[in-house]
Amino acid sequence: MNEKIKKICCIGAGYVGGPTMAIMAEKCKTIQFTVVDIDELRIKNWNEENLDLLPVYEPGLDKIVLRNRGVNLFFSTNIEKAICGADIIFIAVNTPIKTEGLGAGEASDLTWIEACARDIGKYAKNHTIVVEKSTIPVKTAQIVSQILNIESLQKNNQAASNKTFSVLSNPEFLAEGTAISDLLNPDRVIIGGEDQNAIKTLVEIYKKWVPQNKIITTNIWSSELSKLVANAFLAQRISSINSISAICEATGANVQDVSRAIGSDSRIGDKFLQSGPGFGGSCFKKDILNLIYLSKSYGLIDVAEYWEQVLKINYWQQNRIYELVVKKLFGNLKGKKISFLGFSFKSNTNDTRESPAINIARKLISEGAILNIHDPKVNESQINKALNSLKINNQSFKKWHFHKDVYETFNESSAIIILTEWNEFKDIKWVEVIKKMIQPAWIFDTRSLINGEQASNIGFKYWGVGNDN
Ligand code: UDX
Repeated sequence: MNEKIKKICCIGAGYVGGPTMAIMAEKCKTIQFTVVDIDELRIKNWNEENLDLLPVYEPGLDKIVLRNRGVNLFFSTNIEKAICGADIIFIAVNTPIKTEGLGAGEASDLTWIEACARDIGKYAKNHTIVVEKSTIPVKTAQIVSQILNIESLQKNNQAASNKTFSVLSNPEFLAEGTAISDLLNPDRVIIGGEDQNAIKTLVEIYKKWVPQNKIITTNIWSSELSKLVANAFLAQRISSINSISAICEATGANVQDVSRAIGSDSRIGDKFLQSGPGFGGSCFKKDILNLIYLSKSYGLIDVAEYWEQVLKINYWQQNRIYELVVKKLFGNLKGKKISFLGFSFKSNTNDTRESPAINIARKLISEGAILNIHDPKVNESQINKALNSLKINNQSFKKWHFHKDVYETFNESSAIIILTEWNEFKDIKWVEVIKKMIQPAWIFDTRSLINGEQASNIGFKYWGVGNDN
């Protein structure tokens, strides 16, 4: 079956398409993989000799790209050529939440999915398997199928007769920062579809490195829904433990002890019980919003409200941290400098989408604070994009500075907020840091990263999430 598959194309050279195709190319040497994108700069960067310029930072990715690029892995902007030669086409484009119109704020914007389906319908030849990799609303496969057929008929009536499509859903479950190991050793691979031959073809590809018992085949709707539900459940665990963090602070319990205690119940398990500043990233919020929209559109209002609560607690946790900082700094932040350690939504990624740091930074700035920001992988222009649209009283202003050297953030600072759990922050010489700061010098550790007792012994005022002893 697999021998027939010679060429695979992936539309979308982002966080999902790039790493996924790199691993597939590494594992399936007889297949040629072409990743295409309309963004010329992004493709240029994927082809860069200097691997530091790859558009996605992911531990281990650079070596895999280097080994396979130009062999059986290609990056190109020639979408038409890649589609027309492909036996299988993955769609890995982004599906942000709609900002306007019907379903604004909850439903996914399918503009790019639709554009892909139209291109595939136009340019594909013979039988093509189309695989949804992007996270999409349930029942998107139906839309994709419709567009494929409409476009292929419009393009060329005669040729259309031997042009056929099978649409499969194969959601990605890779987490940023661990994408390579998630792809190499997935907990499971889900393939949903109607056409059993197409399913078998994709299963054969994954079987090159994934044990068969980890490959789950379902109908297309179960597959699409599973992706949303997996992320909703993970986010729900974080909101649950974050809600408990406040109870711990109020009662004198310690949230890490509570996490360990409940996590060692094998029915609960120990993953995703780390209390922090709230979850971020491109998936959790979006997928829960999709689930809420889906529930509402089927009249399941109580179900929608149940999942809304998971998001509500996430904002509440961010706001509670901001309010706490204001209160501890005597209710006044005007002109006070605050060192901001970390800006990405978690460690080992340069992604800042939905990072809790953004909301907390905006709130602190609006109180008059000046932020000195350091992140090992996020660059100044990303922070610019996230913060510079900030307007107060209709005036834009810049009340933050980016520092490449972490020690420069501490000069005359009143407080340090640890927002991302970067390992290098554990090596900071706090004894040196406190000398640069204004007293009382605060550390707000939203990631329980450093030893609070040691910080207090040095002379810091210390607050750790869910542990206010
Ligand atoms: C997630 C899913 O894990 C992945 O399967 C899916 O395909 C995409 O969405 P990602 O967004 O990359 O991946 O990050 P993840 O590691 O899941 O973390 C999400 C957020 O939750 C981060 O902000 C992280 O800091 C936070 N988190 C995670 C916690 O606050 N506590 C935890 O215990 C775990």
